[in-house]
Amino acid sequence: MIISYPGNLSVRLYKLLMTRIKAMKITVTDNYKEQSELAASLMCNVIENRKNAVIGLPTGSTPLGMYKELIKSYNEGKISFAHVVTFNLDEYIGLPATDENSYNYYMNHNFFSFMDIDKKNINIPHGNTDDVTGECLRYEENIKAAGGMDIIFLGIGRNGHIGFNEPGEFFEPYTHQVILEKSTIDANSRFFGSVSKVPTSAITMGIKTILSARQIVLLASGKEKAEILKEALKGKITPKIPASILQLHEHIDVIADSEAAVYL
Ligand code: F6R
Repeated sequence: MIISYPGNLSVRLYKLLMTRIKAMKITVTDNYKEQSELAASLMCNVIENRKNAVIGLPTGSTPLGMYKELIKSYNEGKISFAHVVTFNLDEYIGLPATDENSYNYYMNHNFFSFMDIDKKNINIPHGNTDDVTGECLRYEENIKAAGGMDIIFLGIGRNGHIGFNEPGEFFEPYTHQVILEKSTIDANSRFFGSVSKVPTSAITMGIKTILSARQIVLLASGKEKAEILKEALKGKITPKIPASILQLHEHIDVIADSEAAVYL
């Protein structure tokens, strides 16, 4: 991959980072189906190599195909989640787990209820809590107690967010409460029927939490992600584009379909 010099870094730091950036692998697939198959196969590899694999998971439209492929593999007897531990990236604040727009509901209805995963191994932030700070600390501790994440799968927001880490002045390191950007609320209103029904805040893993995963897979599909994907992977590393920090990870696979990869 050709990477342009991020002008906000010293040359010395840049050279140091370049040795790491080489570890980024970008795969461009012809279509969404291929992307989903490849993502599912990366997850299966980790599960096959580590019985008690700890996996970070996203919601949204992008990973739906990957979840379908994993369900297919499970039904064909090729994979088991019996010993897998999962941590979801984020959850809206104020929605009960039974609300069909909560990420808890999404995960159960699109994935977990079809798999042999042990319910006690499923971790999703509790968004319907009176103690958001306590919940964030608890979540962070639970990830550590599980031994950290072997792999995490990410989508990318149109504004460059990962998890619900919105563009800002600095990278928020640990699991925290976030006020959602208007562009995120607008984008997610497609699930709620109207903008006014979308919660305005959420709990999300922080940037350091995400980067602590031993492997990262970033998924991007569709032409509406093309511009931001280019900025995130080839532009400056800046909290104004949270996904740009992924350039620093030592083991990252980017899987983009041909539409999302058009400017790479
Ligand atoms: C969801 C999440 C978000 C989404 C992003 C892209 O758990 O963490 O960062 O990955 O908003 O969403 P889609 O895939 O719907 O375009």
